[in-house]
Amino acid sequence: MGYTIAVAGKGGTGKTTLTGLLIDYLVKNGEKPILAVDADANANLNEVLGEEVEVTIGEIREEVSKRENTGNNFPGGMTKAQYLKYRLNAGMIEGRGYDLLVMGRSEGQGCYCYVNGMLREQIDSLADSYKYLVIDNEAGMEHLSRKTTKYIDTLLLVSDASRRGIQAVARINQLVKELELNVANIYLIVNRVPNGQLKEDTIEEIEKQGLNLLGVVPMDQQIYEYDAQGMPTVTLPEDSISKRALNNIFSKIQFKK
Ligand SMILES: Nc1ncnc2c1ncn2[C@@H]1O[C@H](COP(=O)(O)OP(=O)(O)OP(=O)(O)O)[C@@H](O)[C@H]1O
Ligand SMILES: [Mg+2]
Repeated sequence: MGYTIAVAGKGGTGKTTLTGLLIDYLVKNGEKPILAVDADANANLNEVLGEEVEVTIGEIREEVSKRENTGNNFPGGMTKAQYLKYRLNAGMIEGRGYDLLVMGRSEGQGCYCYVNGMLREQIDSLADSYKYLVIDNEAGMEHLSRKTTKYIDTLLLVSDASRRGIQAVARINQLVKELELNVANIYLIVNRVPNGQLKEDTIEEIEKQGLNLLGVVPMDQQIYEYDAQGMPTVTLPEDSISKRALNNIFSKIQFKK
């Protein structure tokens, strides 16, 4: 299994933006190939990266279940497992230095346990051939508590500078301990910080919560403008304040098992 990085935090704090910029950072530093997984039902990592989604894992799962339930055979005499693998490979979005898998939502009400298990196995085995596995999670702790990933090398907690934001990531930090998840390192990144300067009180709260602050990313007007114009965040200039801050932050992480 490649080096696994998961990003988590409260809604709207910048998880997806930072995940995209992390992928961009790793690729630019020759740290590839990367398997990027968008594990948010409301997928949008592709937009930050500037990629089009053709099919989601949820849709593949739906299609496979439907074929099975209607007695529709899998094409070319393939078994169900073979067909899933084939669809998974075809559904992979190929970027520069990375591949992107979009989980999407699960439609319908059927029982997907079997297909889910099969999918998980195949994604795990796929992940083996990448140097990095980078997962963008949805807000909350669903994915962590479901143990989607058996082992996380680095968990990046993303918060805004608000007290409640810090307390929310502190709860995730706590949950990781309670669930005894296999997470080697947990770091905090505070994003969208006005003037890039944390208040004394916020720093105290971070310390009180026992969070390991890796760095802060300033509020960046350019991110907002790119977003408004529908331009991929990763195409921000290298000297933009957010990219400079993140390059510095990411360089502090030892991406070693
Ligand atoms: N440093 C920043 N400066 C300015 N705007 C930012 C910054 N970081 C993120 N944003 C903007 O904040 C919004 C939310 O960011 P993003 O979608 O990355 O958050 P998220 O945590 O993934 O949200 P969700 O919980 O919905 O998945 C986006 O419009 C993004 O462009
Ligand atoms: Mg997101």
